[in-house]
Amino acid sequence: MCEYCGCQSLETIDELTQEHDEVVRLISHLRPARREGGTVRMAEVAREIARVLGPHTVVEEHGLFPALAGDFPDQIAALEAEHRRIEAVLAEAADGMPADPAWPERLMEAMAMLRDHILKEQDGVFPAALANLSTEEWEVVEATRAKAGSTLFRPAA
Ligand SMILES: [Fe+2]
Repeated sequence: MCEYCGCQSLETIDELTQEHDEVVRLISHLRPARREGGTVRMAEVAREIARVLGPHTVVEEHGLFPALAGDFPDQIAALEAEHRRIEAVLAEAADGMPADPAWPERLMEAMAMLRDHILKEQDGVFPAALANLSTEEWEVVEATRAKAGSTLFRPAA
């Protein structure tokens, strides 16, 4: 590995931000999906969102958040609680169309929360990480990413 210059931390945050962008793009498909394909199509989009969020959430919770939880315990706990709520609603579509007739509405509510959540991370967590994490902590984040993988295109290291 090259001597640490900080460029890796920017790449790491950039990758998390690109995943957020992809999730926001997919969320924007939900309304037309609901109109044109109903709950079946919404469930497909929900599975796509869950697929992007899988490795993303691992990198945040096992790499980034532990390094910030000491200074920002309440904020990190609240973000993790939101992850669980979002995952739970998405998971209902994991095996097909959810039977609960209230699911489409609950999904839309959860996705509105997810958009706010993404803004909180990008305006709060990511700048705090760039300002506060040590080289060793960034290496933990990167190792977590290497294990978790990514749904985005990653150039060979
Ligand atoms: Fe995130």
